[in-house]
Amino acid sequence: MTSIGLVVFGLVSLLALMSLLPPLAGRLRLPYSVLLAVVGVILGLAVTLRPDQAIPSPALHDIFDALASVEISSESFILIFLPTLLFEVALAIDVRRLLDDIAPVLTMAVVAVVICALTVGFTLSMASPVGVIACLLLGSIVATTDPAAVVGIFREVGVPKRLTTLVEGESLLNDAAAIALFALLLPMLLSGGEGSISGTVLRFLISFGGGALAGFVMAWAACMLFPVLNGWPKAEITLTIALAYLSFTLPEHYFHVSGVVSCVVAGLVLGSAGKTRMRPGTFEQMEGVWGQLGFWANSLVFLLAAMFVPRIMEGTSLIEIGFILLVYVATLTARFVTVFALLPLLTHLGLMQRINNRIKTVIVWGGLRGAVSLALALAVIENEAVPANMRDFIATSVTGFVLMTLFINGITLRPLVGFFRLNRLNPVARGVRDRAKLMTLTDVANDLAEIARAEGIDRDIADKTLSSIEARLGVARARSHRGVELMADEMVKVGLTVAAAHEVERCFDLLNERIVDRRIAEMLLREAQHVREAVRGTGRKGYVMAAERGLGFGPAFRFAMWVQRTIRFEKPLAAALADRFEFLMMQRQVLSDLVPFARDRLQPLIGEEAADEIIKLTARRIEAVDQSLLALKLQYPAYAADLQRQYLGRIARQRESAAYQALAANLVVSGEVERELTAELERHWTGLDGRPRLDPELSAIDLVARVPIFRDLDIKRQQAIAHLLTPQLALPESAVVRRGDKGDAMYFIASGAVRVVVEPSVELGSGDFFGELALLTGHPRNADVVALGFCKLLALKARDFQRLLAQDAGLKARIEQVAKERLNLG
Ligand code: CMP
Repeated sequence: MTSIGLVVFGLVSLLALMSLLPPLAGRLRLPYSVLLAVVGVILGLAVTLRPDQAIPSPALHDIFDALASVEISSESFILIFLPTLLFEVALAIDVRRLLDDIAPVLTMAVVAVVICALTVGFTLSMASPVGVIACLLLGSIVATTDPAAVVGIFREVGVPKRLTTLVEGESLLNDAAAIALFALLLPMLLSGGEGSISGTVLRFLISFGGGALAGFVMAWAACMLFPVLNGWPKAEITLTIALAYLSFTLPEHYFHVSGVVSCVVAGLVLGSAGKTRMRPGTFEQMEGVWGQLGFWANSLVFLLAAMFVPRIMEGTSLIEIGFILLVYVATLTARFVTVFALLPLLTHLGLMQRINNRIKTVIVWGGLRGAVSLALALAVIENEAVPANMRDFIATSVTGFVLMTLFINGITLRPLVGFFRLNRLNPVARGVRDRAKLMTLTDVANDLAEIARAEGIDRDIADKTLSSIEARLGVARARSHRGVELMADEMVKVGLTVAAAHEVERCFDLLNERIVDRRIAEMLLREAQHVREAVRGTGRKGYVMAAERGLGFGPAFRFAMWVQRTIRFEKPLAAALADRFEFLMMQRQVLSDLVPFARDRLQPLIGEEAADEIIKLTARRIEAVDQSLLALKLQYPAYAADLQRQYLGRIARQRESAAYQALAANLVVSGEVERELTAELERHWTGLDGRPRLDPELSAIDLVARVPIFRDLDIKRQQAIAHLLTPQLALPESAVVRRGDKGDAMYFIASGAVRVVVEPSVELGSGDFFGELALLTGHPRNADVVALGFCKLLALKARDFQRLLAQDAGLKARIEQVAKERLNLG
């Protein structure tokens, strides 16, 4: 065979082998990486010993030649495999959760890497002759953890998702941190230890920060491109692959910042922003592609790196074994200190939830090392510039150490989890499980009886099958009644968690059905995810608080108002109002769907009482949304009508298109006919995706004409007055003036109403004015004035007040008259 032929043959033989390993690992109940390491070492032994030479079989010779020819170099590891390994994990991480726990994640990732590198470095340098920098380099190599084993077990035993994110996030960022550190230390080692500590730290930070920025910008650029590629999933997915590799190589090559960090950040950004920017379905397809690529890369790297182990470990001396043990003890100690000393400190500072000691122990023990450590060691071995004794030292220590973590920690991790009883379901989860079983078995029994009757199956056969189900039902029924009522609160929390997740799904549905556009979908999603996180944190209380906060006016809205007020530029405010309008309408839609969901789907699982509570909470949210929506509708009825028209149009379009798709899927119409029908439908509904324009109706002259005391003036006069007045919008329940403040303006109400907080309170409506007393008397404001709903106001500044009154005796008399009455009342 030719040499390329051999490489291809070797690779596909490995793929064939790899396809058998995951099920085998499952059957042996071993972490997959442990099994990979075992197989890799065996293959490595075989390639070194060449047992085939004793057997005269050309095919066998070829297989061994092929295996020997697929040796991985550190360069191919870095350029071919590393971007995929990093990008795939980053893509799958829930960035919101990661950000919520960013303090512990960064501690575990960056601080722990430094602690580990220092501990290993200084411990070893005391015992070995190779010098402190080589030892620190070794420390950085062994500081990366491979989360696969721990995450796999965590998923199986159902520990809280936050812990899984912590461990995943840790390993992702610590790869980046350790590789960045490695990249700094290696040149230092080669230059004989030149360079100051502060210089190194600074370069580390620049490399890290610059990499993060580069990754962010590149991923963002890709996200902007997705709409251009719309409709071509294969092109979109290809772009993500290009992004992974470009974000890895370009920043490193041209800007000398960390490509690893850049690649990780690009993956994180794409994973969080891509879902709403790609075509529906494409994101899932892309996740599938990346999952597959990640599996190949991880397995291949592991196998290929493990194949080196026999050669590296050949002739290991007793002293070297001593070093390996030392590295093992030092890393374990470093990890112990991080987890048991630093994490509690973070909890103490309120930066992270408490985790119990059993879980902490599992995290310490689960710090397995994997492909990245092996490949970094390989990079040192291949580097001719590194002195030979250091190369041997690093190679054997790292390899031996990785094997120890895999074979000792990897194999004992699951028993440890069992020993700590972490694999036991908590009572609430057990309650849900029992009810789920009850619900399902009841449905199955009913269906089965129905099918047996309809299809004329023998009575006694049907009865026999049914009675076995009945027996299981009996057990489930007995169990599901036990103790569940005691945990109504917990059940409400479970129910709310599911409901919140359903809310997130509904937002995606609306986006996929093109009922909402991307921006509004993103707003809805952000809100739904907030609610979901809040439930996870503080249950019912968190839910209520997050829901309330979601209806408030955010900083962007307030900024838009400020822009309108100060420079009379209305566009941002118009956009903010339109966004809010649509957001509220769509949120109403999402929430109204939750009620039947709670009744039909949740109730069987969490019981009637808890489901009722959830329905009540949802109803309260709907009411609050309705109120906010009403406030807007009262002010902008025409826009509300436009939005409703558009909404109905979008529903009609979605129904029609879904119906055609269903017909085509059932082969009632051909694909061609479906395409034609869809094209006609799209033609009919053009213009549905743009947004109707909202006019905030804040033009001074229009508003002046609506205030009775100005209405009868001639147009010239009105224009002069309008010149002095600043139109502004007041938000529902916001205070326009506050008692005790100095008076700087008075206000005319052009539309809407306000409440003057005096005893008893007074409501003022369109045409009324307020805030005149402070200007006339020079005293502080004598009451709070709060907007009821949205109000359009005309503000008259103190200095213009005198001017206007001087020009218009009638107005002056009117204002003074009203002021006198008000003062007398007070
Ligand atoms: P000022 O004191 O500048 O700020 C609070 C405003 O509330 C005040 O001006 C009046 O415009 C208004 N106000 C105070 N008391 C009454 C009242 N009894 N009836 C109506 N408006 C009032």
